[in-house]
Amino acid sequence: MKINMDKIIRALSLALDLAQMSALDNNTNMIVEEISNIDYSKHVFMNHSKRVCYISLELAHSLQLDYSTIEELYVSSLLHDIGASNFFNRSHSYPNFIKEHCLIGSEITSDFPKFNNLSTLILYHHENHDGTGPMKLKNTDIPLASQIMRLADILDLLYDDSKPCYTQKEYISSWIEKHSNIIFSPALIKAFSQCSSKDSFWFNLENINLLDVALKDLLPEFDVYLTLDEFKKIAYIFGNIIDNKNEFTARHSTGISELAYSVAKHLGYDNEKCLKMKIAGLLHDIGKVAIPNNILEKNGPLTKDQFNIIKSHVYYTKVILDKMEVISDISDWASNHHEKLNGKGYPRALSSNEISEESRIMGVCDIYQALTEERPYRKGLSPEETFKIMDDMAKNNFICSKALSYLKETVIS
Ligand SMILES: [Fe+2]
Ligand SMILES: [Fe+2]
Ligand SMILES: [Fe+2]
Repeated sequence: MKINMDKIIRALSLALDLAQMSALDNNTNMIVEEISNIDYSKHVFMNHSKRVCYISLELAHSLQLDYSTIEELYVSSLLHDIGASNFFNRSHSYPNFIKEHCLIGSEITSDFPKFNNLSTLILYHHENHDGTGPMKLKNTDIPLASQIMRLADILDLLYDDSKPCYTQKEYISSWIEKHSNIIFSPALIKAFSQCSSKDSFWFNLENINLLDVALKDLLPEFDVYLTLDEFKKIAYIFGNIIDNKNEFTARHSTGISELAYSVAKHLGYDNEKCLKMKIAGLLHDIGKVAIPNNILEKNGPLTKDQFNIIKSHVYYTKVILDKMEVISDISDWASNHHEKLNGKGYPRALSSNEISEESRIMGVCDIYQALTEERPYRKGLSPEETFKIMDDMAKNNFICSKALSYLKETVIS
């Protein structure tokens, strides 16, 4: 099976942008980078990855970089803040935020398929030309793609979505030029002056929703394909990001993924389908990136509003996974795990004939995994206690009794 990597990366960068936006609710503390006095707390991270990607590619063109470097920059700029996806929610005031998210991003992408350099480029995306960045790299020791992302990232932070682009052009340009030899190399400033002298550069920043057209101009072909196994590696990264949002769910997605895979094997599904079930398990809660951590981590009963916000995670799971297109079956199995046979599930209130066997299996695996996990207010239940509760759910037409019996056979055998 060939999976279009472009669609996967774009969907995941949307997930990262949602993560940054979800942090706005509890975004009261400041992150200020010492050298540049950049205040991240005032910035609205709407479409951050996308805009950083666009600026990076413009700079790459001005620098006349070769096509494979541009491809590499495309992937790394869309994912550059992958290590921050939980930080934005949790640790805005964390003093080491800048260094930590570079380290985490680099670590979790160390095994990233196709683009072996990604981990290094992410590690150095906050370095300064004068060596005062978090890893203290200097000048040409900083990989060029990381230098480019640094400028693009700062430009997006300086850019204010609420004002017309032409009122900001001068201020942003002079800010960047003032930091020549400090944050940016003179060569990079020259490339910036070149691409930012075009009006279209600024209009593209302003028309973020039309950016796909501009990106297509800068990178006409991104013909990289993943095998299902390579896609699984990426799914692991995102499954872990979600699991790490909360210490009590530290093994939730990986646990479901293993359970769903075992049930699929037990039922004699072919290898490709078993692997897809595994991936669906890893990604089933990816929409939780859009839920603020203070709600996900709340130790106590949720208000009605908070519950409604939590419920939206499966809506976002579907939005993110549907963007991947080629894997519509995985998207369905993953995002239907809170649907109920009586039609009262969410987010789509599907009726029983619209919920496939695979989605039903995912649903029972999710409940089993959640009940056997420890929570702040209770210990993890034993398999026997869990199945007793789930038997009642099946009797009440919440979950599928057949899927439940497949799970029992798998767990007990
Ligand atoms: Fe960053
Ligand atoms: Fe960033
Ligand atoms: Fe869920």
